[in-house]
Amino acid sequence: MIRIAFAGKGGSGKSSVSGTFARLLARRDRPVLAVDSDPLPGMAYSLGIAVDDHPTPDDVVIEGPEGGPRWVLRPGLDAAGFIETYASSGPDHVQYLQFGNTWGHFQTLQRGQHAWSQVVREMDPAAWNVVGDLPGGTRQAMFGWAKYADVLALVVEPTAKSIHVARRLQNISKAEWAPSWVVVVANRVEEDSDVEQISEALERPVIGVVPNDAAVTEADKLALSPLDHRPGPFVDAVEQLVGVVEATYDLDIQTPTNGTP
Ligand SMILES: Nc1ncnc2c1ncn2[C@@H]1O[C@H](COP(=O)(O)OP(=O)(O)O)[C@@H](O)[C@H]1O
Ligand SMILES: [Mg+2]
Repeated sequence: MIRIAFAGKGGSGKSSVSGTFARLLARRDRPVLAVDSDPLPGMAYSLGIAVDDHPTPDDVVIEGPEGGPRWVLRPGLDAAGFIETYASSGPDHVQYLQFGNTWGHFQTLQRGQHAWSQVVREMDPAAWNVVGDLPGGTRQAMFGWAKYADVLALVVEPTAKSIHVARRLQNISKAEWAPSWVVVVANRVEEDSDVEQISEALERPVIGVVPNDAAVTEADKLALSPLDHRPGPFVDAVEQLVGVVEATYDLDIQTPTNGTP
C-alpha cells in the first residue's frame, strides 16, 4: 500500500497534484483513500468530486477520557466505520475524506480535527492506499499530521518563496517519526533551469517534474479535475510520478532511509 502526503507552500500545486495522483493510482486497481486535511480544502476539485464542503457531523465524537484527548470517536464508531460512512465516492472509485467543518466554528473545527486524526492514526494500513493533501503551512506537516505517510512529497515551484518554504519543510526528515522518504516534486516547470534551481536549493531528490500547463488553470476555472478537462503534459507528468513512487515501494520503502532513497 502506498501512503503519500503532499506538502508545500500555499498555491504551489498540492491539491492539483495530489488529486490527480490519487485518481491515477486508483486506475491501477488500487483502493485509494484521498484525505484532504487542509481546513481551506481544494482536493475535491482536482479529484472531480462534486462536493465543495463535506463536513462530518459533530456527533461523530464524544468527550474524551480524563487526561486523554479532548474528543474521541463515539462508541461503536471505529476508523473503518468512519471511512465507510463519511467518505464520499469519486471518479475512478477514489474515496474522499475531508477534514472537519470550518464554518468559523471553533468547537466544530476541534471535533472534526480530533475525529480526523484518530481515523488516520487507527485505520487499517492494509486496507487503503492513502494520498494526503496537507495545508500550506508547517504546522500539520511538522506536528505529526502526516504520520500516516511513508512518502512526504514537497511540491515546489521554481520561485524563491516556494523554495524557501520547502527548505523549512524538509527539516521534517529529522523528526523521530519522519516519513521514510522526503522528496521533491517540481511543479509549474517551464525550462531545465527551473529544475536546477530547485534541486540546487534543496537536499532532496527531485522525483517528479511537472510542467506548467495552461489546461490545469483552465480546468480550475471550469471547476473540473485536470483529468476531466484536456489531459496533457500535466497529467502525463503526474502519471510518471505515480510510476516512480510505485517502483520505489517495490524496492522496499520500509527500510529506514533517513529521508533520502
Ligand atoms: N502545473 C501547473 N500548470 C498550470 N497551473 C497549475 C499547475 N499546478 C497548479 N496550477 C494552478 O495553480 C493554482 C494553485 O494550485 P493548487 O493545486 O490549488 O495549489 P495548493 O493546493 O498548493 O494551494 C491553481 O489555480 C492551479 O490551477
Ligand atoms: Mg490546496
